[in-house]
Amino acid sequence: MCGIVAYVGGRTAYSILVKGLQRLEYRGYDSAGVALFNGGVNVYKCQGKVKDLQALVRGKEIAGSVGMGHTRWATHGAPSDANAHPHRSMNGKFYVVHNGIIENYTHLRKELVNRGYTFQSETDTEVLVNLIENIYLEQKVDAELAVRLALTKVVGAYGLVIICESEPGKLIAARKGSPLVVGVGEREYFLASDATPIVEYTDRVMYLNDEEVAVVTADSFDLKNLHNDVKTPEITRIKLNINNIDKGGYEHFMLKEIHEQASSVTDTFRGRIAMDESKIFLGGILDVTPKLMSAKRIIIIACGTSWHAALVGEYLFEEYVRIPVEVEYASEFRYRNPIVDKDDLVLAISQSGETADTLAAVRMVKNSGATILGICNVAGSSLSRETHAGVYTHAGIEIGVASTKAFTSQITVLAMMAFLLGYKRQTLPAADYKELIHGLTRIPQQITDMLADEENIKKIAAACKDSTQALYLGRGILFPVALEGALKLKEISYIHAEGYPAAEMKHGPIALVDETMPVCVLALSDKLYEKTVSNIQEVKARQGKVIAVATKGNKDIRRLADHVIEVPECHEALSPLLTIVPLQLLSYYIAVLRGCNVDQPRNLAKSVTVE
Ligand code: G6P
Repeated sequence: MCGIVAYVGGRTAYSILVKGLQRLEYRGYDSAGVALFNGGVNVYKCQGKVKDLQALVRGKEIAGSVGMGHTRWATHGAPSDANAHPHRSMNGKFYVVHNGIIENYTHLRKELVNRGYTFQSETDTEVLVNLIENIYLEQKVDAELAVRLALTKVVGAYGLVIICESEPGKLIAARKGSPLVVGVGEREYFLASDATPIVEYTDRVMYLNDEEVAVVTADSFDLKNLHNDVKTPEITRIKLNINNIDKGGYEHFMLKEIHEQASSVTDTFRGRIAMDESKIFLGGILDVTPKLMSAKRIIIIACGTSWHAALVGEYLFEEYVRIPVEVEYASEFRYRNPIVDKDDLVLAISQSGETADTLAAVRMVKNSGATILGICNVAGSSLSRETHAGVYTHAGIEIGVASTKAFTSQITVLAMMAFLLGYKRQTLPAADYKELIHGLTRIPQQITDMLADEENIKKIAAACKDSTQALYLGRGILFPVALEGALKLKEISYIHAEGYPAAEMKHGPIALVDETMPVCVLALSDKLYEKTVSNIQEVKARQGKVIAVATKGNKDIRRLADHVIEVPECHEALSPLLTIVPLQLLSYYIAVLRGCNVDQPRNLAKSVTVE
């Protein structure tokens, strides 16, 4: 996946593109490039980050009020100057930036080679730009038709912006499977993979749908589908606060986002919990209430951190709604032959709402008759548009590649859904329903209190920073938290870490435990506390270094553990919302001490829009 930004209007395109690319760097950051139209087309591109591109461009010609930029996350071909976008067609007629994958590129490339084409890069995108040019030159059609004809031959996913050298002042954009947002200004248009490069110029946006092609000039916007039918896009207004896009005084976006969790969890339940804490109201799923009332099974599909939130959801739904729940990796689900029927509730969870596997899984079950719900953070994303109903997490934009506040907001939504549904289906008594709601409203203050103990976490991080591996253990609803804690550590510090159900440790991972191994144990004073203490003893007996995450006030655990992180007392059902916060911080400080790039870890990208 990659980030695309493009501009046509009266301003200097370059500065808009560079700023936009910096905002989109979370989508990919192994190479960057721009193409600027100013009579001819100037292309600057290089391996590296946007700042490397800026260094390359310094002192060069940057005039032009039409242009497009790209930040890359390599799929076809390693990160290199040649593989960076924009790609130019062999005869220089077309320039393209592309997010997605052209799956049949080998076949198309062979055809083009037979027609005399040669290639400068290993990318699928260069095949596409040459295909467009070849059709344009051979069939003597205009650029728009050449693009449409080329796209009918393409199998795969694309968000594209194209410049044709002989049609000045014009951008052509197309989308299938990869997002593309259009910002509408006064005699100017912006195109981007998400709205962050656009919001400081306009709040009026349009979303391209699959297989739509737009022709954009400063004064016009024409939209058609691949079959030449005219489409009328709807303009919507977005609320995205520009202040949310900077680091707000923190050293990294990730640290800022960890700290934001008290307010992001509040934003998630704001307006959804009655003032007197007597009920929950989820407007986004109101229309499907009868389906929710009669559902026989819930299937939750997601990837990465969202999948861990789904596992927490499994505990919550089974406990309070008493419906069987299956949690599936979207990528596995879609390639099986899963059994889904009309009484099922399919719940897709995705921060970005653009994850290719999650979207594909949703599309796959569309004809099953099941009710499909989404939980997602990005308003107007593909997931929000392709599900029957859903609930936004309202966590605010998340820039750090390692997800933090999105996770706690997803759990907040899942908790609200489970409590509400349990209450309506009478599997959750009214008194317990109220107690849980009250517990949820206390979480933000408890997160704030916990964040005051950052010095302790820094000390533990210093003690663990040179470890080569780590183990995270939890039971019940805290097992997914152990998985998520381990994922955070791997993602940003490159220390190998595994999350395990505490009792399963003795069936394998215990073989790894020695005096160099930090073992982080989620040991809250809950019904399984004594059992978890036995697991801690097993680790200590092998000289492992125990970091216990324990309920505040538990003095006994200090005798056993090497380090203790205290968590305020809360309802067990809500404990993932608190216990994950110190684990996020621990990973963060370990990664910082190891000199890692916290916000942009190697090989990762925030939004995986390829399979
Ligand atoms: C990528 C990100 C993860 C994220 C996962 C799912 O792997 O690096 O942080 O959890 O995608 O993303 P989604 O947007 O669907 O939640």
